[in-house]
Amino acid sequence: MNILVTGGAGYIGTHTCVELLEKGHDIIVLDNFYNSNPEAIRRVKEITGREFKFYQCDVRDSKGLSKIFGKESIGAVIHFAGLKAVGESVEIPLDYYENNVGGTVALLQVMKQFGIKSIVFSSSATVYGGNNPVPYKEDMPIGGCTNPYGQTKYMIELILNDLYVSDPAWNVIILRYFNPVGAHESGRIGENPNGVPNNLMPSITQAAVGKLDKFTLFGGDYDTPDGTCIRDYIHVTDLADGHVKALNKLDAKGGLRVYNLGTGRGTSVLEMLAAFETASGVKVPVAQLPRRAGDLAVCYANVDKARTELGFTAKYGLERMCVDSWRWQRENPRGMLDEKQTIN
Ligand code: UD1
Repeated sequence: MNILVTGGAGYIGTHTCVELLEKGHDIIVLDNFYNSNPEAIRRVKEITGREFKFYQCDVRDSKGLSKIFGKESIGAVIHFAGLKAVGESVEIPLDYYENNVGGTVALLQVMKQFGIKSIVFSSSATVYGGNNPVPYKEDMPIGGCTNPYGQTKYMIELILNDLYVSDPAWNVIILRYFNPVGAHESGRIGENPNGVPNNLMPSITQAAVGKLDKFTLFGGDYDTPDGTCIRDYIHVTDLADGHVKALNKLDAKGGLRVYNLGTGRGTSVLEMLAAFETASGVKVPVAQLPRRAGDLAVCYANVDKARTELGFTAKYGLERMCVDSWRWQRENPRGMLDEKQTIN
């Protein structure tokens, strides 16, 4: 039986494909290359030395999905495909609802039609909103997200809950990611955001490599020990391992389970910056700006449930996150494009 990985050419998708292949799973990957390119698939094969089938297909394309499900033997789906830029989601909300919510509904419909009822879904810590105390636990109320991207994750969680209530034979695992950073140790796959990055680590590495003039630090007056926001950064390879462990938890009886994937440790922006400078040996130019709208002062996970039920514990600390992010950035200044390829 194959695991179908949607969005398998993306940042978390490629790292999860590597972990799955290395743990002996057979995979089929689907991606529309909206935010990625074929080189990503080639590099996953290069790292693992394994072959797998790839389909260029959009998750909103029910006919295309049906063809794949009709042709292939699929046992479960790991669903990453979706749009993920918070700022962009405020500008083009309909695209976010159509791709993320519409795409997931289309996928679930086809899965139902073919009797495939096992799915692992990429959710986000953003679903905890701004009113819960830290550390966030899986049984806390969710919702109240401040942007359309967050709303789509929340809505998809509701949809998966409703689906499970309608038919308890569904086997659903929702993974709420905290802040994924880092890259595969080979330096061959990693995160390559379009345009000016939104997230912390690519902003630091791009300033370090000279792609950005300066790293802009948003807000130094939060109620935290050093005045900067605190987050729970998790190495993307650990996150990928969490997916493999989640997959092992899917069982024939059905069930709906939710797990936080984080380290349970909070790190401030200044701490991350210092860790990066130590790991890379590069002094990063910094510009201090006012707070960014919508940022919470502190966000980190309670990871007890993933530890006890999945046997998942994040292995990598800040130093490794920084070393791997830096290697990826230095060796791939143009992201996943080959030296021989041109940017269209
Ligand atoms: C953001 C999203 C969240 C999404 C997650 C995906 C917001 C409000 N939240 O989370 O919905 O699930 O990304 O990874 O956008 N920072 C800087 N300078 C920068 C970039 C970031 O100082 O150039 C600071 C931010 O102010 C924040 C911290 O770094 O304090 C982390 O930011 P980021 O990486 O964007 O993650 P989140 O805001 O936690």
